[in-house]
Amino acid sequence: MSETKFSPWIVLKFGGTSVSSRERWETIATQVRARLSDGLRPVIVCSAISGVTNALEEILAATAHGHPKEPLRALTARHQALATALGVTFDSLVGASMADLEKQVMGAALIGEVPPRLRARVMAMGELMSTRLGAAFLNANGCATTWVDAREHLLTTDSAQLTVERRILHASCSFEADAVCATKLAACPTPAIVTQGFIARDKDGQTVLLGRGGSDTSAAYFAAKLSAKRCEIWTDVPGMFTADPRAVPSARVIRTLGFDEAQEISTMGAKVLHPRAIPPCRKQEIPLHIRCTPHPEFDGTVIEKNPPDGSAAPQVKAISTRKGIVLISMETVGMWQAVGFLADAFTHFKRHGLSIDLVSTSETNVTVSLDPSGNRLDKATIDALLADLAPLCEAKLIPDCASVSLVGRGIRSILHELGGVLGLFEEQRIHLMSQAASDLNLTFVVDETQVDRVVSLLHGHLFGRRARGKLLGKTWEELFSLTDTAAHPETPTAWWVRRREELLEIAAQGSPRYVYDATSINAAAMELMEMDAVDVRFYAIKANPHPDVLRVLKDAGMGMECVSPGELDHVRRLFPDLDPSRLLFTPNFAGPDEYIHGFAKNAMVTVDGLHPLRCWPEIFADKEILLRMDPGKGRGHHAHVRTAGARSKFGISPADIDEAARLARAAGARVVGLHAHSGSGILSSHGWAQTAAFLAHVAQRFPDVRALDLGGGLGIAEKPGQAPLDLNAVNESLKIFKTAHPTMDIWLEPGRFLVAHAGVLLGRVTQLKQKAGIIYVGVNVGMNSLIRPALYGAHHPIINLTRLDQAPTEIVNIVGPICESGDVLGHARRLPPTKEGDVLLIGNAGAYGHSMASNYNLRPPATELLLNP
Ligand code: LLP
Repeated sequence: MSETKFSPWIVLKFGGTSVSSRERWETIATQVRARLSDGLRPVIVCSAISGVTNALEEILAATAHGHPKEPLRALTARHQALATALGVTFDSLVGASMADLEKQVMGAALIGEVPPRLRARVMAMGELMSTRLGAAFLNANGCATTWVDAREHLLTTDSAQLTVERRILHASCSFEADAVCATKLAACPTPAIVTQGFIARDKDGQTVLLGRGGSDTSAAYFAAKLSAKRCEIWTDVPGMFTADPRAVPSARVIRTLGFDEAQEISTMGAKVLHPRAIPPCRKQEIPLHIRCTPHPEFDGTVIEKNPPDGSAAPQVKAISTRKGIVLISMETVGMWQAVGFLADAFTHFKRHGLSIDLVSTSETNVTVSLDPSGNRLDKATIDALLADLAPLCEAKLIPDCASVSLVGRGIRSILHELGGVLGLFEEQRIHLMSQAASDLNLTFVVDETQVDRVVSLLHGHLFGRRARGKLLGKTWEELFSLTDTAAHPETPTAWWVRRREELLEIAAQGSPRYVYDATSINAAAMELMEMDAVDVRFYAIKANPHPDVLRVLKDAGMGMECVSPGELDHVRRLFPDLDPSRLLFTPNFAGPDEYIHGFAKNAMVTVDGLHPLRCWPEIFADKEILLRMDPGKGRGHHAHVRTAGARSKFGISPADIDEAARLARAAGARVVGLHAHSGSGILSSHGWAQTAAFLAHVAQRFPDVRALDLGGGLGIAEKPGQAPLDLNAVNESLKIFKTAHPTMDIWLEPGRFLVAHAGVLLGRVTQLKQKAGIIYVGVNVGMNSLIRPALYGAHHPIINLTRLDQAPTEIVNIVGPICESGDVLGHARRLPPTKEGDVLLIGNAGAYGHSMASNYNLRPPATELLLNP
């Protein structure tokens, strides 16, 4: 192509969520048609459909344990469902691939091992299948396309010195202009081409992978090889933002960036674009354009060599974070002025295939960070590394860290402007600080639990007041309040908009006040009732035990799930005749008296450890019990609410199943149910059927088990633009599970889902203040009424109910009256000009609001009221 002045090629990459539904494929078709009518030749690079790469990983994990059939069935069902939605035939397009996949996996299950080559072949199936289905859809819908195997064109260049894993699972390819590739693609019979991301071939002609996020890299390789006019990355977020918009809804879209800054932002943690996608485009000066498949009307972010004026001045353009980082601290007095310490130490990192990210050194200590996205940070590797380092120094692992990077050109020259911002780190333990030699970032490593709060504060300081212009566009909130009404909690359809007058009157009688809407609670309960794969539903009353709320839910058919004697007594007082089959008791680390109490209250009792069975067997003699298992992977909106995995205190480890069975038998207890709760605030529909499959697997050891309780955790859309949990998809996956396990009942025990949207917290504005350019709106609602923002950095929408019709033009911090700096309900929120006495409404406050309230500062928390229809 290099000899032609005008390159007709344009590369469009569509990520997992962008290829997962008919609606998205219709957008792809529209975009492809538009490029064709501009005289361009589109190369469409696709990922596997959303969740499939994870599902394939799980299939491989199950293969190693010899039971991959269940997840294979679920994978087939997902592709069948998409084929049906697209109106294309599953059998002729991907039936053979599925059969091939099954053959390979079942073969590996027999030997109980998954070598890297097999892993690569299996993982490649996701992209091969999604593109087969998508190409057929495009062909049937007026976009003639040729399906091309990416492995014909992307050849790896990795040196034999790299580890086998790296060469096969994280491969790199050349990205010189490639006349052979261009000629071959030009010879395709159709102007548009569909091909796969993530996969390539090595010099032996074998399948290799480009690592997670590899589809962006594939698109960039194709763009560079073809000297394309542009490389468009279509994803589910509308561009690069000043911070992760899902954590900071006031994050602004960055309209334009240089390659160097974009590289830095993506390397430092923004997930919208994989950092490896930038060098190929940068080298050939091909503009990269980030676009949003659900909202093609948004402009997105353009990354190019010379962004327009005004963006070149030194300034912070984004705050990036990376979680899951581990630090290795190497301490030795012998290091001072010693020659070769770093060389010796780093050799061990190299030997274990570990790539070091940040480094900070002092006379006696070198601390380095390891990023999970580029490294396998499993326990065995880290232990081996620490053992190898032991003769050299005192090496220590510091787990669960996160990095916070301020990114932008010329950071060094504006350090003096960052003084106030750096003050925010005063209260944090900073494990490591690093200033990039490129002068593009300043990075702090802090405890992972702190990171969301720190970023929200930093963002308010750095971007809260910057005007919209060529560089910064709208906030995430603004973009989505205009478009995404279904997922947007502040939507005008919210119940409290309808009942505004009533709420203002209630607030006039006294505040702060929690108000719950019975109709909304009922509506949420009905949604759960419609899940026909679920047999029994319990309400986790810890979310909101208000008696009127419990009555509504009991009448809607919910059982009650309690975690303490107090909750049990509360339910029994309200509903003395509640059938024992509708009362579940799930204590953890409780003493023997609590179990005795549970049985005395006629509840079904869940045991979450071996200790009770081993040490107090008499309590369980002749009793039916459930066992709480640890499903292995914690999920949920914050580290504090993820309740599974080796480092969580909950559940029985799968390794202890045999012992649990033996102890239960010895105690004379009958295990009739298995329980697992992975965490709270889960928005993904994947994983529920896997938990069921996991419990069904455990149930093989317990012949009396009939109930599989998948716990609670169903999330709600809390932040603007967040997609709600797809209950239908959860239900469908559980239905598939049940066809294979017809004797098992599925139970759920949600709390939040039933009550969160139904509750609001009303407060009155007490004072206004301006300090250092920040506007503070004080309210009589403190963290003693609602602790979630302070505890988890949780986002609750805040609305000026008095001035609901006025445009939100001011950016303010909303703060309570408690004597703690953490008493902030919302940072950098948009409100209309607000006055003393206005009523503010805090939304999504029906779950874990009043139930976590306290009398701190001897301020009584908000009182409660349920509104009937
Ligand atoms: N079942 C068990 C065993 C649980 O531990 C929980 C919640 C649930 C069910 C209900 O989970 P849900 O459906 O509400 O997510 N305070 C935190 C939530 C903590 C949840 C604790 N366990 C928050 O405000 O987000």
